[in-house]
Amino acid sequence: MLHPKLRAIANKIRNEELRRKVVKLLENPVFEVDGKVYSGLPLDVSPAGLSHHHCYPGGYIEHVVSTTNLALALCNSVEKVYHGKVNRDIVIAGILLHDIFKPVTYTVNENGSYGSTGLADYMDHLSIVIAELVRRGFPLDLVHVVSAHHGDYGPIRPHTIEALICHLADLMDSRLNGEVLNAAAYLTRKSVGEELKGLTSKEAFEIIHSKAVEGWNGVAKTIEKIKRRRATHKT
Ligand SMILES: [Fe+2]
Ligand SMILES: [Fe+2]
Repeated sequence: MLHPKLRAIANKIRNEELRRKVVKLLENPVFEVDGKVYSGLPLDVSPAGLSHHHCYPGGYIEHVVSTTNLALALCNSVEKVYHGKVNRDIVIAGILLHDIFKPVTYTVNENGSYGSTGLADYMDHLSIVIAELVRRGFPLDLVHVVSAHHGDYGPIRPHTIEALICHLADLMDSRLNGEVLNAAAYLTRKSVGEELKGLTSKEAFEIIHSKAVEGWNGVAKTIEKIKRRRATHKT
């Protein structure tokens, strides 16, 4: 079953054929190579990074939802402020699919931490998704958006407005999330001398907010609250 938040985003794609193809891949994001089928973590529970950003359960969905919001805001600016033209279908499909094969490269270790699969030793999520998009006959415009989403650090820089929007939105969301997680980890370390493992974005924002409102006392109280909440959820 496709996560309702991903379905709602996919429903914004107006071109029926593109929407159908995107949904088909989202519903079953497996990758076949050398006669072996790789499936990895389900999208619903997967992180969207192993260390820098969205590195907690559900991080993948959060990243796609937030990046879509940012990309659509950029589409509005381009169209309404700059009077440019954007193919929103390609932007939305690009965001939905840009990291679709990250989960196929992730595994959960016995101690609950994340690690990478054997497939990840040979292919990164960008190579995997490009191979699969081409194999499934997706439009070249979309293939380009996905190829260029890492900007200067990828195989090709964005050469279309749709690719530029997707790259900027992706960068903005990963930085937003990563910086907030880093700040919360720093506050936690300074306050109680150790970090909370697997800090989620919600917990990180709680810690940062408590510092703004109640200072270091607030940070300590919030960390205690998070620990109690985690303990009760475990039992
Ligand atoms: Fe990526
Ligand atoms: Fe991303």
